[in-house]
Amino acid sequence: MAAIDDLIAQIGDPRLRERLAAEWKAAQASRKFGLVFEDHLPELLPLPKARPRRGDLVCRRLGRLTEVWQVKSVKDGVVTCVKPRDETHPSEPARAAAETVSFAVDEVMVVREFGEPIFPALTPVDVVQNGDPAAPWHVLIEADNYHALQLLGYLYAGKVDCIYIDPPYNTGARDWKYNNDYVDGNDAWRHSKWLSMMQRRLRLAKKLLNPADSVLIVTIDEKEVHRLGLLLEQEFPEARVQMVTSVINHSGVAREKQFYRADEYLFFVFIGEAAVTPTGQDMLNPPEAEEGKKIDLWRRLLRSGTGARRQDSPRLFYPFWIDPVRKRIHSVGDDLPLGANPDSVAPPEPGLVACWPIRSDDSEGRWQISAETARKGLAEGTVKLGAYTATRGRWSISYLRNAEKERIQRGEIEVVGRDDNGALILKQSETVERVKNPVTVWNQRSHNAGAGGSNVLRALLPGRKFPFPKSLYAVEDALRFFVANKPEALIVDFFAGSGTTAHAVMRLNRQDGGRRRAVLVTNNEVAADEAAALAAQGLQPGDEDWEQWGICRYITFPRLKAAITGKTPDGAPVKGDYKFTDAFPMSAGFAANLAYFRLDFLDKDRVTLKRAFREILPLLWLKAGAVGPRPELARGEAEPVVFAPAGSNFVVLLEESRLARLMQALQGRTGLSHVFIVTDADESFKAMAAEVREAAGAANPGLQVVQLYRDYLVNFMINHGGAK
Ligand SMILES: C[S@@+](CC[C@H](N)C(=O)[O-])C[C@H]1O[C@@H](n2cnc3c(N)ncnc32)[C@H](O)[C@@H]1O
Repeated sequence: MAAIDDLIAQIGDPRLRERLAAEWKAAQASRKFGLVFEDHLPELLPLPKARPRRGDLVCRRLGRLTEVWQVKSVKDGVVTCVKPRDETHPSEPARAAAETVSFAVDEVMVVREFGEPIFPALTPVDVVQNGDPAAPWHVLIEADNYHALQLLGYLYAGKVDCIYIDPPYNTGARDWKYNNDYVDGNDAWRHSKWLSMMQRRLRLAKKLLNPADSVLIVTIDEKEVHRLGLLLEQEFPEARVQMVTSVINHSGVAREKQFYRADEYLFFVFIGEAAVTPTGQDMLNPPEAEEGKKIDLWRRLLRSGTGARRQDSPRLFYPFWIDPVRKRIHSVGDDLPLGANPDSVAPPEPGLVACWPIRSDDSEGRWQISAETARKGLAEGTVKLGAYTATRGRWSISYLRNAEKERIQRGEIEVVGRDDNGALILKQSETVERVKNPVTVWNQRSHNAGAGGSNVLRALLPGRKFPFPKSLYAVEDALRFFVANKPEALIVDFFAGSGTTAHAVMRLNRQDGGRRRAVLVTNNEVAADEAAALAAQGLQPGDEDWEQWGICRYITFPRLKAAITGKTPDGAPVKGDYKFTDAFPMSAGFAANLAYFRLDFLDKDRVTLKRAFREILPLLWLKAGAVGPRPELARGEAEPVVFAPAGSNFVVLLEESRLARLMQALQGRTGLSHVFIVTDADESFKAMAAEVREAAGAANPGLQVVQLYRDYLVNFMINHGGAK
């Protein structure tokens, strides 16, 4: 019972006691534990291209997204609307016969509430091809990430190896929007809005991660670090969450009357068996600090610190017998039962002296390893006699830990001989780099956001500005710890900003010939001051002259294009070199391919799969791994019965009654990874899938047969099934 229950029970007045008990019960029922924040109205999705129809919700293009009307009629370019009933306050009386308002059709924009079904399609915008066309393509999707994540959930549920995100830090400096409104420092709800926004996206992102072995990396600064930490613990209860502090500005960013801020944080959410792969750097000490530094590889065998007393591990209390004349260990004695006096043990030969684990305060201690392991170590030269302290009349014993023995095996430490007593003589290898365990504080000059972020971006896109790109090398380092041994890794960033993550993935691939693939999502927002300037010119979101200045079109795609081709948007070679684990001119570009899509939403009337096949094709290409050029239906070409373009790694059967045609198309085909079959009949799908595997499985190892339902929504489940 809680203290308060005890106190209530002590109240003498029964009426007061009962009333207080009832109040407390009610308070407990309404109280949330863990991270507490206000729920916010679901976010709204603007559909600037959709034509308003009866029943749609609309807002004014230049008004607030949350100020919505419901369309009653559309006639002669005029939309007549009423205020919708406020569903969030069901007790509010319906605004029956509410006053109608009319707008010009171009003045308003359709919006959908998160949770209302919508029909996504990826519209191809552009491509950059500079690598083997048959290789996997990186993908950039211009979209609000909530809907893009829902789509990715269909494409890659459980398949993603690493998600790296750098969300808006909620600094109060109008650096992100909730429901299309910039959130600033005066917004009393800014923390809970941010948490609502993040929670919705993290829940979708979780579905993408491979439950057996994957990692989510989230960067953040001091404004939201604590709330984010709690949110991650709450949303990923089965994962291990660790935070790393990273110095990203060695001079510090000014904080009035406070310490200047030099660092930010990375949360690593380890899913399943995910583990850090050491890469050579400890991340704390710059490599220069290690140069010329002599490190003693031998450790004292006498245990210090916790559990260091004889009684803590009696089996580790035994003597080394030392020949003081020849200065060598003669042999290792047996452990002495607790309570027995070491002075009672006679030497195995006259003239030998005992070296017991005696601590500096003269109390009895214990060794680090058993007598048996010590004997083995003595024979192999990994246990040796240390220094003699004349004042105390005592010898010390040294040994090599397992970590050092492993380094000898890896070739990082060379054995150059044995000394007179048989102990190994060691030398740090000059050719094999030392594998150090990375620690939780990173202090790397290369991670500075200025040099590794803004300067790199400036070289790629001269004259274009983007606030706070991450250091390319900081992202590369963070990813390397998890995908170094996964050359086929799928990496997602759904707050992609200037596209640093894909750039880092391309660098990793170049270093080891990997085929890792980056899928990036970013919206096409313009900065707050730019939005005001564009609106003053009479422009509105959705206008080409507005959209061209958005992040995705103006920064992300051009940046990645410049990185891949080695040319700036003006066609000039990119100036400068990459200076990191490797050094080469940025103008060399990368052998990589990138497909750029915009997430659009299909008209409600065209949502059967067959009718929207042209629009769905990019989704099928992505689901099949985005390998090789993306096949398209030629203009004017009708939807086929079987879609099996030459060279593609997937085939689609659109008419289930024509299985024979599919089997014909599969004959002699190799390099297939997916066969899609459109059918609503689950049983006949199973039979067809078995037949397909039987016929084509041997020539196409790992072939997946996937069912597609005729109903578009059943397949894509987008914006369907709750907004929370
Ligand atoms: C802090 S920046 C990421 C910077 C990036 N790591 C880089 O190095 O350039 C966050 C980005 O997320 C984008 N963003 C914010 N909210 C979004 C949303 N709901 N959907 C998609 N992108 C969003 C913003 O446009 C912004 O560019």
